[in-house]
Amino acid sequence: MSIQYFEKERIFKLDTCASTYMIGIVDEENFIGHVYFGPRIKEHDAGYLMRTAELPHVPTRNGRDRLAFMDTFPMEYPTHGLGDYRDDAIAVRTVNGNSALQLSYVSHEIIQGKKPIKGLPATFGSDKDCQTLEILSTDKVLGLDVILSYTVFEDVDAVARSVRIINNGSDDICLTKVMSMCLDMDNDNFDLITLHGSWARERHINRRPLTYGFQGVSSLKGESGHQEHPFFAILSNNADQDKGEVYGVSLVYSGNFKAECYVNQFDSVRAMIGINPEDFTWLLKKGEEFTAPEVVLVHSSEGIGKMTRTFHDLFRNHLIRSPYKDLKRPILINNWEATYFDFNTDKLLAIADEAAKLGIEMLVMDDGWFGHRDFDDSSLGDWYVYEDKLPGGLKYLVDEVNKRGLKFGIWFEPEMISPDSDLYRAHPDWAIQIRNRKPGMARNQYVLDLTRPEVVDHVYSMVSAILKSANIEYVKWDMNRPLADMGSAALPPERMGEMFHRYMLGVYELQERLITEFPGLLLENCSGGGGRFDPGMLYYSPQIWCSDDTDAVERLSIQEGTAMVYPLSSMGAHVSDCPNHALGRITPFATRGYVALAGTFGYELDVTKIPEEDRNMIPGQVKMYHKYNDLVRMGDYYRIASYSENKEYDCYMVVSKDKTEALVTFIQVLGSVNKHSRRIRLKGLDPEKDYRISFEGIDDRAKEEFDTDRTYSGELLMNAGILIARPWGDFKGMLISITEA
Ligand code: GLA
Repeated sequence: MSIQYFEKERIFKLDTCASTYMIGIVDEENFIGHVYFGPRIKEHDAGYLMRTAELPHVPTRNGRDRLAFMDTFPMEYPTHGLGDYRDDAIAVRTVNGNSALQLSYVSHEIIQGKKPIKGLPATFGSDKDCQTLEILSTDKVLGLDVILSYTVFEDVDAVARSVRIINNGSDDICLTKVMSMCLDMDNDNFDLITLHGSWARERHINRRPLTYGFQGVSSLKGESGHQEHPFFAILSNNADQDKGEVYGVSLVYSGNFKAECYVNQFDSVRAMIGINPEDFTWLLKKGEEFTAPEVVLVHSSEGIGKMTRTFHDLFRNHLIRSPYKDLKRPILINNWEATYFDFNTDKLLAIADEAAKLGIEMLVMDDGWFGHRDFDDSSLGDWYVYEDKLPGGLKYLVDEVNKRGLKFGIWFEPEMISPDSDLYRAHPDWAIQIRNRKPGMARNQYVLDLTRPEVVDHVYSMVSAILKSANIEYVKWDMNRPLADMGSAALPPERMGEMFHRYMLGVYELQERLITEFPGLLLENCSGGGGRFDPGMLYYSPQIWCSDDTDAVERLSIQEGTAMVYPLSSMGAHVSDCPNHALGRITPFATRGYVALAGTFGYELDVTKIPEEDRNMIPGQVKMYHKYNDLVRMGDYYRIASYSENKEYDCYMVVSKDKTEALVTFIQVLGSVNKHSRRIRLKGLDPEKDYRISFEGIDDRAKEEFDTDRTYSGELLMNAGILIARPWGDFKGMLISITEA
């Protein structure tokens, strides 16, 4: 039983294999309090942690200081306007113009398994995998019911929370804020980690001490965004990869979000995450309900690394649905950086000819194949083939590619509309815009109003028709600009504040229809690189393009931040040409290959034009991918050293679940003199097993220093480590393969 209710103490106890979460009910008013979240404990009688025996006590004992209680009690789901000044999780606007509410416990239910959340991405699990607690609370004055759900994935060591609101009152009510969770805790010298970035520099790790007042991250771009990320971790300030307490919080949503932490006068922390309340309202008519996006909580007593591995397991097994999640993905070659818009059937077939010889398995035709698109200034929305570029049509091209032994994939940007398009000429009001204001363009394009069912239907039918017209086995779904000018010709004024969230529901519906009608399709999400890399998207696609920056060095930081939360199997990573198209750096082809091996692996270059010595390395890289990808996709990930921190070298490893095999990647970004060797202490191995070590990519000089004939115990490798000889030069990489002897 992972969920128990102790009636006498009025305590809910939720246990995973290593963590415990406790909720308490107090006072005659049935306040729902947060009791505990931390390492697993046997005892349930911990209600004293809510401090109701101390001043100011509960309101029935001390009505004089009710507000002091409201402002100090550790609330499980704080409400607006009645004296809790620490910021709230939910606020409303009633027909009378009031904004306050109070939630009291009414009843609860414990069920096996987990119900899906209609229209939204969410984790899933069978009756054996998980148990769910639903606490029904209500505001008696408004007749507003709020159901707090907690699903416990006991073996995985994670808890998924969501919030459902039902208007059972006699009037319509407007929700003005609905966060997905709140976590009230005592501050313990915590640090805060968030992921920060920009276009071509996504998800760099940002760590700083939690301090008084508000701090957090958010998006108002209609997507999770390049800049900030719907994830944060609160951790003890001495926590590192292997030790210390860490609370990881990840929102399963792809639109506007807000994550905020507030340290108050009493040194307690209130952490929340959910839909950004700015630009959000939701009219709940009598009898209607609203569900906020799900949030996943992971507690680790063994540092950041353990949190990471828990997220990886949860997302791989209980979020990603694609049949590809357990499969090796075809090695693709994408023509974007090879040709940009300047391609035709002959050029693509020439790339396919060469790619086939080298062992590449799929050709992806990127932007520019539709309407009359020769640049970014036209044709989005006109999803029919540009015959001048592709004479004979798509079917001819795909058949020819298939004949060469390659699969075929295609790029779409279904959410967009170019002013120069037949679609815009026919339906100018389908572009998101505010009446009487000219909408602003980004990358020469507008965004389609996906809050309108007829727009969703039309887009879907065009995409679906293309997919049916030829043997297309992969789709790259792009989204190349943020939302702005939020106005819909179809929404009444009182619902205009729903637009951002309704837009996301439209996107989710489109992707759900796509994977339902084409269940074998490999879908990769993308947004100007990695602007929408989030758990919401992973529910529909097993992989997401990490970044338009494919430079091997920049990718170390991007992939380190991404892999802190997301499985390596989900990170779109390719080898591209040099000088790198995003930042002009030149790195060895081999190193680009080692770095891309940490993700889905593929190529983003014109294989007919790259230097011959680079081309000659491709078959070897293909072989490496096939040798190591099962391990990389399914294994446990350990971070050993971070180039972002030490500014010299990067090192990480993946260990198979049975600990018989491991792969270490070492990249020396900057060469350094007089450091004869570096000691790398491996992680995650079985101390009792003996292992053999072999190297790939190491130069002969360094190779001499290793004895590959002997075996090493896991204990030795993890405690004493191995010596990495200094590679000669900058940007050098090597793989160290470890196998049980
Ligand atoms: C985005 C993607 C690129 C490419 C272009 C095409 O920037 O991230 O990979 O598909 O769009 O316009």
